[in-house]
Amino acid sequence: MEKKKSTFSGSFGFIMAAAASAVGLGNLWRFPNLAAKNGGGLFLIMYLILALTFGFTLLTTELAIGRKLKQHPLRAYGTIGKKWNFMGVLTFIVPVLISTYYSVVGGWILKYLVVYSNESALEAASKGYFTDFTHSYVSPICFMLLFMGISAFIVYCGVEKGIEKFSKVVMPILLVMILGIAVFTLTLSYTDASGDTRTGLDGLWVYIIPNFEGLTFSRFLEILMDAMGQLFYSLSVAMGIMITYGAYVKDDVNLGKSINRIELFDTLVAFLAGLMVVPAVVIFQGADVMQESAGAGLMFVQLPKVFQQMPGGTFIAVLFFILVAFAALTSNVSILETIVASISEKFDKPRKKITLFVALVSTIGAVVICLGYNVFFFEVDLPNGATDQQLLDVVDYIANNLIMPIIALITCIIIGWVVKPKWVIEEVEKGGHKFRRKGLYTVMVKFIAPIFLILLFLKAIGVYDLIANAIMG
Ligand code: PHE
Repeated sequence: MEKKKSTFSGSFGFIMAAAASAVGLGNLWRFPNLAAKNGGGLFLIMYLILALTFGFTLLTTELAIGRKLKQHPLRAYGTIGKKWNFMGVLTFIVPVLISTYYSVVGGWILKYLVVYSNESALEAASKGYFTDFTHSYVSPICFMLLFMGISAFIVYCGVEKGIEKFSKVVMPILLVMILGIAVFTLTLSYTDASGDTRTGLDGLWVYIIPNFEGLTFSRFLEILMDAMGQLFYSLSVAMGIMITYGAYVKDDVNLGKSINRIELFDTLVAFLAGLMVVPAVVIFQGADVMQESAGAGLMFVQLPKVFQQMPGGTFIAVLFFILVAFAALTSNVSILETIVASISEKFDKPRKKITLFVALVSTIGAVVICLGYNVFFFEVDLPNGATDQQLLDVVDYIANNLIMPIIALITCIIIGWVVKPKWVIEEVEKGGHKFRRKGLYTVMVKFIAPIFLILLFLKAIGVYDLIANAIMG
């Protein structure tokens, strides 16, 4: 008897599941921070243009590969041509690496959710709280286990009954919550000790008005690189996830239209996250703080201070961490699903059993990452310019900065030059649907996306900065 293949029930379920993977920590903490750091509106415009060209190309390529071949990444590349087998393996490694640390960060979010739910908001805003927590032995592991347990349970329930069902419920709620908090922060104002009053509108201007002050060509390129890197990460491409999800899409679904909606959802959430975070930080902490703090520092150190000063801050913090937890959970689910699908297809084993196995292995990896803050503690500087990085950051760097641009680059070369863009275009047009941006797609996948990806890779290994400094001084 032929086994029933997993699928999404229809286009809405597919769009929600793919958007759920794309919307994650990248949208909620990385995007606002980059926008504030990179001259507000200028970054937003660049990001939007890149989303409609570069991001759209990568997303279309992967979803089309998945749906056309109905195979998971570990096998799909080898089906295109035997010599691309190594790409399947490379693509498989990325989610395996990411699964080890994403659930650790997920655990941190659950910890903050619990702290704020217990009215211990003051504690969370106190100095050194975050570092003390991540450096402790037991608590980060317990919260990671909880986060991993929930993600694995959703994957265990199956593609339609688990992932799709959960995403369909959670994503609309997430959108409403983020909109609500963004509107609320815009209505606030605060007078600091020196008598300066800052309002939500001041924060809004920092966020959306392009700041051309001191803008040079090399600074412009730097912002472009930041926008490109962010987009690449945000759409969950180059790690097999979108190939896996593409394989679950039925043939009668309008792929082109769905891709537009996934992109729209991802970009909208990123934009709203900025609208929620940037004005809040500007009002209570000043614009400089927004430009200095990065990544984890923003979410776990600066925002708790903001919540402490904000009227109704504890309640807003609970809502905020619920929504971040949802976003992170659905992304983690897509990571686990990609590993599970690849292994169970490759070895023809039942997905439920494989889910348990994958969850166990990822958990062991995640424990090691947790211990990177105490037992295996070290700090290194990375070639991309990041300093004092720990185990979690190093694994993130290897996956996101080194391997992912290579995967995306080779994928573009395979589609653009080996099997030719028509291969993908036919898939998007299947069933008589229109592919409006097919000319753009062809030029992007053959020429422009590869150039962007090479630049990203050179940036990751530090060569880009060397060249830029040599040329522009
Ligand atoms: N796209 C997600 C985000 O923007 C990140 C992610 C990474 C998702 C890895 C899945 C896997 O946060």
